[in-house]
Amino acid sequence: MECAVESVQYSEDHDFFLLSVRYDGSAEPGQFFRLKTSMGPYVARPFSVYDLEDGVLKFLVKSGGEFERFLENSSKIVIDGPLGNPLPTFENPLLVAGGAGYAPIHFYAMKHKAETVIGAKNEGFFDLVDLPNSSICTIEPTTALDVAKFSPLENVIVCGPFPMLRVAKEMFKVRNLYLVLEEKMACGRGMCEGCAVMTKNGVKFVCKDGPTFEAKEVNLNWID
Ligand SMILES: Cc1cc2nc3c(=O)[nH]c(=O)nc-3n(C[C@H](O)[C@H](O)[C@H](O)COP(=O)(O)OP(=O)(O)OC[C@H]3O[C@@H](n4cnc5c(N)ncnc54)[C@H](O)[C@@H]3O)c2cc1C
Ligand code: FES
Repeated sequence: MECAVESVQYSEDHDFFLLSVRYDGSAEPGQFFRLKTSMGPYVARPFSVYDLEDGVLKFLVKSGGEFERFLENSSKIVIDGPLGNPLPTFENPLLVAGGAGYAPIHFYAMKHKAETVIGAKNEGFFDLVDLPNSSICTIEPTTALDVAKFSPLENVIVCGPFPMLRVAKEMFKVRNLYLVLEEKMACGRGMCEGCAVMTKNGVKFVCKDGPTFEAKEVNLNWID
């Protein structure tokens, strides 16, 4: 489906941007879309939904990639989705995000009661994004997990880079922990087998079976 680009808003340091497009459909927190323009990239890129309100769908994108270069010359983008499964819902979970991993966490926290800890490299990130109630922001060298480890909440959802997921898995091993995984994707529908991950129940696909997995189910050592 082709959608009109409404705005592209950058953080001051240009590390991230918020892309807003007109979209007359639905999506749940944790789901993602494959995005490209009519000129490229050849393989559409998966991005989690950051927000969807009043027909405006938003994505939080880390700058510097191919998609951004094509977006510069385009007033429309081609979107494919929503894909993947929604985040699990809990009464008052602890949500922990690192960088662009904040996208699905933001969408969830805007709809449900939660305690949120968000980590970024610098303050520019927090000038760009909206912050939900009950949120704590950390700036490097302090990480979101440095703060989140003091929360007593039982249900925890973490979305961020792989090193962060590995630390979270160890840190919260006696809690009910869910991890939002990222993998290179092509089809987004479980057909190309490009986004395979090893789990206790055999090979699964991040696009179709995830992107959120129970931490105790998934083998992170299998992923680079
Ligand atoms: C389910 C799912 C959800 C995702 N959600 C998000 C999301 O919400 N936001 C998000 O940002 N990502 C998200 N990702 C990750 C994203 O899909 C990948 O990083 C994808 O490759 C980005 O495409 P791109 O064209 O922007 O970057 P690519 O060109 O594919 O490059 C990948 C990364 O390398 C960096 N890079 C590229 N070229 C250079 C260069 N010359 N020098 C230094 N670094 C470079 C880019 O900054 C980018 O982060 C998600 C992935 C999955 C699987
Ligand atoms: S992207 Fe093709 S199987 Fe997941």
